[in-house]
Amino acid sequence: MSTFKIAVLPGDGIGQEVTAEAVRVLRAVAKGSGTSFEFESALVGGGAIDAAGTPLPAETLKLCKASHAILFGSVGGPKWDHLPQEQRAERGLLALRKELDLYANLRPATCFSMLVDASPLKRSVVEGTDIMVIRELTGGLYFGEPRGRTPLAGGGERGVNTMVYTTPEIERVARVGFEVARKRRKRLASVDKANVLTVSQLWREVVTRVGRDYPDVTLEHVLVDNCAMALVHKPTHFDTIVTENTFGDILSDEAAILAGSMGMLPSASLGLAGAGGGNVGLYEPVHGTAPDIAGQGIANPIAAVLSAAMLLRYSLNMGPHADRIEAAVSRVLEQGHRTRDIAAKGEKVLGTTAMGDLIVRGVEESA
Ligand code: IPM
Ligand code: MG
Repeated sequence: MSTFKIAVLPGDGIGQEVTAEAVRVLRAVAKGSGTSFEFESALVGGGAIDAAGTPLPAETLKLCKASHAILFGSVGGPKWDHLPQEQRAERGLLALRKELDLYANLRPATCFSMLVDASPLKRSVVEGTDIMVIRELTGGLYFGEPRGRTPLAGGGERGVNTMVYTTPEIERVARVGFEVARKRRKRLASVDKANVLTVSQLWREVVTRVGRDYPDVTLEHVLVDNCAMALVHKPTHFDTIVTENTFGDILSDEAAILAGSMGMLPSASLGLAGAGGGNVGLYEPVHGTAPDIAGQGIANPIAAVLSAAMLLRYSLNMGPHADRIEAAVSRVLEQGHRTRDIAAKGEKVLGTTAMGDLIVRGVEESA
């Protein structure tokens, strides 16, 4: 019997509620599978600031490094928004990405056919959308130096962030892009701003060069502004997208809403090979803490549950079990069960645990 250690970091807001459902689903997967999971929880984000004075306590980082994978909820909230940027709840997540070198962030945006009408776009535009956004996660504008604020002699200040990439940083995320595209529809769009930014010119050259190792994948270069437009104009044009950290932050939210609700979308953040052979990946819903609905038991747990499926697939090499979870989610949706965010007017609405119950049952039935 193999045992995997999973660090559970629910974080703040609805992160607490949805992560609990993802853990229940993983327990259901483990039953009779010959695999067992050892879950250990730790503090991160605002809750960690309150309890330990820092958004990423040393024990949390230690636990993550000693685990096979991390199941993450969400961090942040109005309570901590007044703190200086370097001490905010979000820093916990950013530091974790950097510490674990989680440089490739996979964000699928799939429009479930039964939810097409939940999308703000017309059915004719959005139907069939199935995009994987790969966002570089440990470099670019988020982490580049110099950064900071300096006072100006005549009053006022100067604020600086820098978009920086080195050849190896571009190369490794480009490889992830091509590898992922190869397993999908073999089309990769590399998104940059090479008509203006020098760093983007380097990005474009390196991606093109890496592409020579993947002759079976069709590569196109798309400018970020054009990509933002094309995503709402003709989303079905795209298969796999690879892009800079900030561009990816923006475009992945845009792609997410095509799918109907942010409450549906999982993500995986992968780094270098970990001790267990696989990546010590971090898995989190794309949605945030949703302070407006936190604590009410009405959040959609599907993004967190699908993140657990990605965890099985990418960190634990348990693809067939990931399929079981994804099939259970699809079935529950096909049967018409909805949480508030994806319900049409007049449809019956389920709470977080009730939706979790149905998915758990579906997974158990597929054992
Ligand atoms: C995301 C979020 C984070 C980011 C925040 C919470 C720091 O927006 O994961 O997309 O900007 O990367
Ligand atoms: Mg974001």
